[in-house]
Amino acid sequence: MTARPRLTVIGTGYLGATHAICMAVLGLEVLGVDVDADKVDRLNSGVVPFFEPGLPELLTKALESGRLRFTTSFREAAAFGDVHFLCVGTPQRADSEAADLTYLDAAVTSLAPHLDRRVLVAGKSTVPVGTAARIAARLRELAPAGDQVELAWNPEFLREGFAVDDTMRPDRLVFGVTSDWARDRLRAAFQPVLAQDVPVKVTDLQTAELVKVAANSFLATKISYINAMAEVCEATGADVHDLAEALAYDERIGGRFLRPGLGFGGGCLPKDIRAFAHRAEELGVGQAVGFLREIDGINRRRRARTVDLVVASCGGDVAGKRVAALGAAFKPNSDDIRDAPALDVAATLRRMGAEVVVYDPAAMDNARRAHPELGYATSALDAARDADVVVLLTEWNEFREIAPSALAAVVRRTRMVDGRHALVPAVWAAAGWDYRALGRPAVQGRS
Ligand code: UDX
Repeated sequence: MTARPRLTVIGTGYLGATHAICMAVLGLEVLGVDVDADKVDRLNSGVVPFFEPGLPELLTKALESGRLRFTTSFREAAAFGDVHFLCVGTPQRADSEAADLTYLDAAVTSLAPHLDRRVLVAGKSTVPVGTAARIAARLRELAPAGDQVELAWNPEFLREGFAVDDTMRPDRLVFGVTSDWARDRLRAAFQPVLAQDVPVKVTDLQTAELVKVAANSFLATKISYINAMAEVCEATGADVHDLAEALAYDERIGGRFLRPGLGFGGGCLPKDIRAFAHRAEELGVGQAVGFLREIDGINRRRRARTVDLVVASCGGDVAGKRVAALGAAFKPNSDDIRDAPALDVAATLRRMGAEVVVYDPAAMDNARRAHPELGYATSALDAARDADVVVLLTEWNEFREIAPSALAAVVRRTRMVDGRHALVPAVWAAAGWDYRALGRPAVQGRS
């Protein structure tokens, strides 16, 4: 076998497409596999089907190098690959808080019957602990090569908006394996990444599965912790923004993921903590992570409290009021609207009778499809025209850089609700705006 294994990446969504493109750019031969022929065609013709800074340029580079292509054929994938990465989505089930493993099971069922030689299958998807052992058994059962097909778990920690950097230069790699051979195959696959002194933690399968959900649970907990402090600040007139800054000086606490505001959303943190709590209950240790339900509850309350602030800012009723909603994506530098707090708030205000006009630098098409009942504008200023209140819901730099005077010139009333603590209250107050943010005292405009 060659020193550098040939890789397949099964599932070309956010995680898989990024992994396939980056690995090819790093010098490996990669075949991306997806059941969606349209997506495969788009990728083969150089189009990244989602927004991610830097990725389109790398896709072009990888295709030009001849090291990357995409297919819908699992037979072709099996013939090509020495290491098969499973990168399909594991969303929340429609009928419970558990993870939906349909796509993962389908990928294994499609690939395994073609595996007729010694290969490694490496799961990257976020899964309930215990899934890897089940998949390993299924592979042995379905693959003609039987025991020669080994499973590893290699969780992925990339953040949207920073996906390229996180893939090329991760904080760490986790290799969940059951043999030295599997560990060495992963080392060979990641050799160009490891050459940059990236630390590797080798574990068993179940620990590797757990690392991912434990990490996301910790991050969610940190965000909800500071947002819980915001609730206390609101009851006392204290300022959670200053509180968070003061806490962050303690290196044991640190300032990252301690930004108070509207809370977390996206395709990972919310569903991962729910699936983890659910899985722990199945395992009889629900009590150990019962606090995750409280973390989820604090997070959901942030959305309701932001709506309350907008209502209060409008004098107690938003019916008939024009609301400019700045942001739709679940976070900046992304067009992802999965479980987006911004759209949740905008849609709730609409249901309460407000006329809501949304602007987002990247997520407009996705937002329009999901929420046709909302209005859409072509710029922040356009959204704010004649607004009774402006509410900042996703902290794009473009919004931080808006001049308060420029916005004041187009609105009906200078009322700002800063759902993301992205603006400097004194600057906005000096320009005549009434400024409100969760966990901070309201500031009256001085014009
Ligand atoms: C997350 C994890 O960070 C990543 O390691 C994992 O692989 C996938 O899940 P992602 O969903 O891309 O990544 O977004 P992230 O940057 O973690 O932000 C999640 C949410 O938390 C966003 O809605 C963001 O606005 C919010 N957030 C983040 C806060 O509200 N406060 C903070 O201090 C940080």
